[in-house]
Amino acid sequence: MKLIRAIISTDHIDELRLKLFENGAPGLTIDSVMGIGKPLGQLSYSDDKGFVPKFFSNSRIEIVVEDKRVEEICAIIIDVCRTGNVGDGKIFIQPVDEVIRIRTGEKQEKALY
Ligand SMILES: Nc1ncnc2c1ncn2[C@@H]1O[C@H](COP(=O)(O)OP(=O)(O)OP(=O)(O)O)[C@@H](O)[C@H]1O
Ligand SMILES: [Mg+2]
Repeated sequence: MKLIRAIISTDHIDELRLKLFENGAPGLTIDSVMGIGKPLGQLSYSDDKGFVPKFFSNSRIEIVVEDKRVEEICAIIIDVCRTGNVGDGKIFIQPVDEVIRIRTGEKQEKALY
């Protein structure tokens, strides 16, 4: 299993939520984050420090799926979130060793759906 963690514009969260569930996403978590991409493209001026990298507010969405669904889920994220402008976001993918549904004790893929 893999954790798909995408940093995206908050503007796309509602459309993405609908598309993901239309396509059978097992669940998801979102939160609000602040971050910096390629800093040279995103500077703000402060009187004491001159030009410094600027924080941008984004949403972070996390979805755990079986390995075979990673490509499909990433394609949905890219389809919804790509405008072609800088700051469209980034996707990070990490291995997940274990999933446990607390209510039933089910494990691994059984616990996802
Ligand atoms: N290497 C990274 N590590 C952790 N977070 C990152 C990294 N790169 C980007 N992010 C996060 O993703 C957000 C969006 O990044 P962004 O889309 O601007 O990436 P970028 O590499 O600058 O690409 P682009 O050139 O399209 O703007 C950042 O504000 C930051 O929160
Ligand atoms: Mg950027």
